[in-house]
Amino acid sequence: MKIQFDDINLRAAMVGEANGVTPAELRQHGSRALDALNGVKKLSDAAAQGFPHLPFQTELAKEILAFARKVRGSFDTVCLVGIGGSALGSWALDCGLRGPHPVQPAFSKSNPRLVILDNVDPAFTAAALESMNPKKTFTVVVAKSGSTAETVATFLIVRDWMMKNLGRKAHERIAAVTTIGSGDLHTLAQLEHYREFPIPKNVGGRFSVLSAVGLVPAALAGFDIRKILKGAAAMTHECWQADLDRNQALRAALFHYILCTVKKKPIQVAFPYSNQLWGTAFWFRQLWAESLGKALSRQGATVQVGQTPVAALGATDQHSQVQLYIEGPNDKVFTFWTAGKFRNAGKIPKTRLNLEAFDYLPGQTLAKLIDVEQRSTAAALVEAGRPNCSFTLDAIDEENLGAFLQLMEFETAFMGELLDINAFNQDGVELGKHFTYGLMGRKSYEEFRGRFSQYEKRRAVASRE
Ligand code: PA5
Repeated sequence: MKIQFDDINLRAAMVGEANGVTPAELRQHGSRALDALNGVKKLSDAAAQGFPHLPFQTELAKEILAFARKVRGSFDTVCLVGIGGSALGSWALDCGLRGPHPVQPAFSKSNPRLVILDNVDPAFTAAALESMNPKKTFTVVVAKSGSTAETVATFLIVRDWMMKNLGRKAHERIAAVTTIGSGDLHTLAQLEHYREFPIPKNVGGRFSVLSAVGLVPAALAGFDIRKILKGAAAMTHECWQADLDRNQALRAALFHYILCTVKKKPIQVAFPYSNQLWGTAFWFRQLWAESLGKALSRQGATVQVGQTPVAALGATDQHSQVQLYIEGPNDKVFTFWTAGKFRNAGKIPKTRLNLEAFDYLPGQTLAKLIDVEQRSTAAALVEAGRPNCSFTLDAIDEENLGAFLQLMEFETAFMGELLDINAFNQDGVELGKHFTYGLMGRKSYEEFRGRFSQYEKRRAVASRE
């Protein structure tokens, strides 16, 4: 496992003092970074936060692998029903390890595809069902709360579809990943005898990819989950080092903290130059946004902090976003994610056509071109005074991806400490959920139906002004 963080283009020496970090600022805030490390360590030692422990759950990994060995071969599709932190990690792993759809290797019982139902768009759900064969599908329903409306509604449809085609045998082809001992999904799983896997109470959805949430679908799809955990475990050791030169997660958090708060960069563009890391960019968006966007400090003062994560894909978005990035508001910091090597370098055939725009490329590779494009974009951003940095994964494989996901989780936790907020709650998403429950008729949410009609009345008045 090898991941390299390059912060040189975040420094004032490269992008000027107004936009970059000075050595004095690094020294000034350095001790706070070490406090942040101790803060996260305390939470981890007290078992208040469980994500640092996940890579070391060897018994759970064994159980998941034994289960996967038992059922694999009987299905060509894994249908994952979940949303947010219960789905995005699986997408990151699938996209990272097999490549993005539709360019994954041919699907079969030995290489089942992963269909992730993480939205209640009826057209999407209907099309997904039509594309799957219920007799060759294994369903994994994932919900920590066991009650998220989108997941429950979709699961009711998928369960019904499976039962109509398989009868009660359908229950043998469903696994539930949820909080054991509480929640209605757990109750249903017990009643219908689904195989159940736990989500630890001290692991929040967006920090759960290395729990059964990500590992069960990964093992069913055929990924080597031991290697994923091995990489994450090695990264965990690195992330506990009280040394800013060795602890890349802490160093990255410190730079981003200074850029966000002192240099006024409220936006971070996660900029993979690899389609395989595109799913990870969406996973990261949730991690960074939901963890750091907070109204209150830990002391209860109103702070309204956060850094908006944006996902861009290189080199594609050079032809879509980079104009804005270079010439628009200087309010962003760019984090490139690159691959040291690709499985296939993409050799460009040595065909000379006597055409100036074509003839410099033959004999070179796409791997070289995408690398040159990333470094050229970084240089152009520096010329425009735009801070940027990069994480380079030696290769995009199980170990490096597991390590990278864990690195990002640690960086987020450290950033939360630096910002002095609770990175592990998400009160901001609750009100919208409660309105939905009220409007859909869930018991005990009548109050929210009332609040929603007040809102509609205000809209009616405003529309007449
Ligand atoms: O990070 C989080 O906690 C959330 O994004 C949840 O993952 C999301 O709301 C889904 O929740 P649940 O797993 O309870 O269905």
